[in-house]
Amino acid sequence: LGPSPRVRQAIQDGFHKVVNYPDPNCTELRLALSRKFDLDVEQIVIGNGAVELIYLLMNLLTPRKVLIPAPTFGEYEIGVVCAHGQVVDLTLDRNKQFSLCTERVISQLSQVDMVIICNPNNPTGKLVAKEDLETIIKEAGETGAFVMVDEAFMDFVEQPEKYSAMDLVHKYPNLLVLYSMTKFYGIPGLRLGAGFSNPRIIKGLTAIKDPWNVNCFAQLAGVVSLEDEEYRLKTRSMVQGAKRKLYRELQNIAGLKVYEPSVNYIFIDVSGTGLTSTRIKGLMASQGILIRDCSSYKNLGSDFIRVAVKDHDSNQRLVKVLSDVLDKNTSI
Ligand SMILES: Cc1ncc(COP(=O)(O)O)c(C=O)c1O
Repeated sequence: LGPSPRVRQAIQDGFHKVVNYPDPNCTELRLALSRKFDLDVEQIVIGNGAVELIYLLMNLLTPRKVLIPAPTFGEYEIGVVCAHGQVVDLTLDRNKQFSLCTERVISQLSQVDMVIICNPNNPTGKLVAKEDLETIIKEAGETGAFVMVDEAFMDFVEQPEKYSAMDLVHKYPNLLVLYSMTKFYGIPGLRLGAGFSNPRIIKGLTAIKDPWNVNCFAQLAGVVSLEDEEYRLKTRSMVQGAKRKLYRELQNIAGLKVYEPSVNYIFIDVSGTGLTSTRIKGLMASQGILIRDCSSYKNLGSDFIRVAVKDHDSNQRLVKVLSDVLDKNTSI
């Protein structure tokens, strides 16, 4: 759907703001998010995209060892290494569809001072139930480990209340929930993310960030996007419908093992085609379609791709081109 139409209007109407520095405290946006998630403004920091906050958190806490499931979003590892920390891999089991095993996380807690959980996970779309997250956060509190839960894609999830750790922020001081507004609200070029944690961590992050890290248009876009309930509902229902349809259609293509999607992307095991993910990406690119070759993710090798759920016509085109490309280049 692109961004909410209110974003364009707000940026046009607010163009005069460009001559001033942006509000370093993102006051209005923090208020809007505090209402949405029922948190205090002192529990919220805004970032120039969620990624900025990953780096800031690592610089603030300088963890020596960080437990990171693999595969997952690559920026966590870069953030840890940049802050001179070391990553402890938690290799997710392909035979268990890369689900996160709570007991395995807990058994490693005493060895690390931070754990990162991407929920839903990028690129698999796998979700961790809120009760399991709470068990991990509670146990981590006892061993002195901090937990970052990345909910960048949670807005797309059906029944987010079963999975989101947002309200646990009130209960556990060793938790930061990361949130992104670039995906669901369609503004990756503007950059906008948020972190939710206890006021002491938020104060620390605020103290080390660039004071004017979030530009005036991103702040405006964030406020008006959150007000646009109609757009939110439309996006959710459109993505949920399109996702189910695309999932069914991809399952009909021989050689593909399609993971059940939870969000606006679909994770696919292509090992049954006899082609590598890199080869499929190249073949699709020559037809003008860019898919994600997942071989750069840790623990995935060359067997996986990820595709985006888009509008109806684009999804149809994806299915047709992928099916043709595999037909022509495999012996299945
Ligand atoms: C899991 C995850 N978290 C965070 C981000 C970064 O989001 P932002 O655009 O808000 O920096 C991404 C971007 O792809 C992501 O996949």
